[in-house]
Amino acid sequence: MARHLITSAIPYINGIKHLGNLVGSQLPADLFARYQRARGHEVMFICATDEHGTPAELAAAKAGKPVAEYCTEMHEVQAEIARGFKLSFDHFGRSSSAQNRKLTQHFAVQLAKAGLLREVTEKQMYSKADGRFLPDRYIEGTCPNCGFESARGDQCDNCTKQLDPVDLINPHSVISGSTDLELRETKHLFLRQSAMKDQLDAWIDSKTDWPILTTSIAKKWLHDGDGLQDRGITRDLSWGVPAQFEGAPWSGMEGKVFYVWFDAPIEYLAATQEWADKTGGDWERWWRTDKGADDVTYTEFMGKDNVPFHTLSFPATILGSNEPWKLVDYIKSFNYLNYDGGQFSTSRGRGVFMDQALEILPADYWRWWLLSHAPESADSEFTWENFQTSVNKDLADVLGNFVSRITKFTRSKFGEALPEGGAWGEQEDALIAELTTRIRAYETHMEAMDIRKSAAELRAIWVAGNEYLQASAPWSAFKTDPDRAAAIARLALNLIPLYAVLSAPFIPDAADSMLGAMQTEDRSWPQDVKAALTALPAGHAFVTPEVLFRKIADEEREDWQKRFAGTRD
Ligand code: MF3
Ligand code: ZN
Repeated sequence: MARHLITSAIPYINGIKHLGNLVGSQLPADLFARYQRARGHEVMFICATDEHGTPAELAAAKAGKPVAEYCTEMHEVQAEIARGFKLSFDHFGRSSSAQNRKLTQHFAVQLAKAGLLREVTEKQMYSKADGRFLPDRYIEGTCPNCGFESARGDQCDNCTKQLDPVDLINPHSVISGSTDLELRETKHLFLRQSAMKDQLDAWIDSKTDWPILTTSIAKKWLHDGDGLQDRGITRDLSWGVPAQFEGAPWSGMEGKVFYVWFDAPIEYLAATQEWADKTGGDWERWWRTDKGADDVTYTEFMGKDNVPFHTLSFPATILGSNEPWKLVDYIKSFNYLNYDGGQFSTSRGRGVFMDQALEILPADYWRWWLLSHAPESADSEFTWENFQTSVNKDLADVLGNFVSRITKFTRSKFGEALPEGGAWGEQEDALIAELTTRIRAYETHMEAMDIRKSAAELRAIWVAGNEYLQASAPWSAFKTDPDRAAAIARLALNLIPLYAVLSAPFIPDAADSMLGAMQTEDRSWPQDVKAALTALPAGHAFVTPEVLFRKIADEEREDWQKRFAGTRD
């Protein structure tokens, strides 16, 4: 039994995420976690809400609530939606937890001891009207790179370039709109990433099996321009992990907090500690290589905009601490999912958001489409036509139809139990050979986190069942040789639990319905296809299930298309 630590990038607290966010981190991480559990491995699957920084403060201000209260409420909203999508986190934490505060401060002290922090007095934008500094998203202006007019202080939403507030053209305060800004001196802690450049470079070079998307972004940051830069890890804000605390080896940092991107990845560890504090489990067994984590395989899932932080800044924190913390083993990163000819956008409310999706259709429909179209090698696009086609063909016509055909046929000819008699022949041998080959390929793709290939293989496994039914035609056989029809039905009914087990990582609810219909709890992985196809014996009772997947009608599709054409209010 292997041990898998799996983390999904932690979503910002400010509002409900869209389907592009979901497919870029939480959903593929869930797929992998479910698969590894299904193979009998021990899994710790961690996610959380990212509650600090300017996005949280701004959203709370907009909602007219104190930020702590806003975060508590939004955490519950996100947790509920995550349950709706059947995201099987072992713990869904909060980066504002006491555990994270302590760990973040601990890492900062360790980095200081290692000589990896330096104090920098720099000039930051200060708004006289607001009486405060305007870090990151508190300032907007024109992007110096692409000319986009509402670029934020930390990043341009249009060209994705990381920015410094002082780079913006015609900057203004997001709070008051004031343009009466000046540069004022302020002191901050900087992480000396440049001093760790060679170590990080060598570490990335050793990861020869990582996706090109991951390593190419890391390499770019390591080598482009002047190479890896030191980064400010504190901000002039009040909401966050306090940068001045007891035992801090520096002074004069009162009223400042750590930068959200410093404490957010540390929440992966802290959330595991939150889990341990809640359940009595042992979190260090997952995170400390001196306490059992040396045999853990740690995989991170994220969108491409998160890659620099996970390949460079967070590893710099871990390595620089000089303590035996677990480093990531594999980073699976994703391109963007676009929406109907444009981008999904949280700030502009464009696209389908997680809550809206669940109002329209159950989780499995979305999970299947999103995963089978995951933006792995390039950006991909959600269109309603494509969604309708996938659902109707793959889920309704292929899988759903198979289940309904064989259960209804058996019920009408033999009653609701697996029929007795008859023997297997060449068709069954061929099916078993095909399924064995395909299941082994499916396993290989799932291990490698090749999500689209896994989905395609799973679909082919469903198709094989339909083709078998079509070729063996038990409804014709029944007229001349009912025993032969019984043998076919018995095998085909055994395919249902086999499909359930294989499909559960993608479509967990349908898998439960299939197992429920076949009245079995056996979720063991089909190592031996022949054995799996005789697992349920003649006489075993089943229930003919309700429609597994319904089709999406043209009118409905057009309706949704219209409803989601504008922006959400
Ligand atoms: N909240 C960030 C985002 O949505 C991701 C943070 S991931 C972590 O882009 F590493 F910081 F945890
Ligand atoms: Zn730009």
